[in-house]
Amino acid sequence: MDKTRPLVAPSIISADFSRLKEELIRIEEAGADLVHVDVMDGQFVPNITLGPMVTAAIRKSTKLFLDVHLMIYNPFDYIEPFVKAGANRIQVHFESTEDIEETLKYIRKCNIESGLVFSPETSHEMIPKYLELCDTVLIMTVRPGFGGQAFMPDMLEKIRFTKEAIERQGLKTKIEVDGGIDEKTGAQCIDAGASILVAGTYLFNGDLKANIEKLHGL
Ligand code: DX5
Ligand code: ZN
Repeated sequence: MDKTRPLVAPSIISADFSRLKEELIRIEEAGADLVHVDVMDGQFVPNITLGPMVTAAIRKSTKLFLDVHLMIYNPFDYIEPFVKAGANRIQVHFESTEDIEETLKYIRKCNIESGLVFSPETSHEMIPKYLELCDTVLIMTVRPGFGGQAFMPDMLEKIRFTKEAIERQGLKTKIEVDGGIDEKTGAQCIDAGASILVAGTYLFNGDLKANIEKLHGL
């Protein structure tokens, strides 16, 4: 069967921050494909996590691809600091800026990948318009802000819609999903068209390596 293996992206905010470097080594040794870095500003979402300084420290501790998910207002102003910190992809929420086009173009101009994120309450209608400007579309399967929330099954339709739009436009844009991902919900997302799985609680609340392997096997 010619089925591509999904990419697995552990969400670093579920790791033990008092041992960040060891955690990153553990993530790499466990076979993760990328590290998902959740940046929250306490304004766009009701939680504060980390910024460019900690991202630079993460960069120093791993060779893995850094997938930076910005849950902040004024994302344009923070592209450069995160590029300097070593981000390989910066993903921006559609809801966080009025200049989404300019922001996505600028990310690519910095020679890294661009991603566009849609919160659960945002309609899928606007997705096709921006596909050409992004390497990934990140469909949030929980409300952004915290790890450990329950997967929202209604988002499967949004994934299917996005997949169809990508195919219709003949693009290579990948679909990433984030929030409440485990073996069961991950399989549903892959079925609907996703190929990158972000997971925090599921991966870290157990045997990291075995759980990554399980997601790889979906
Ligand atoms: C939520 C974050 C997610 C989250 C994933 O705002 O973007 O990356 O930490 O965690 P789980 O897998 O626990 O839902
Ligand atoms: Zn995230």
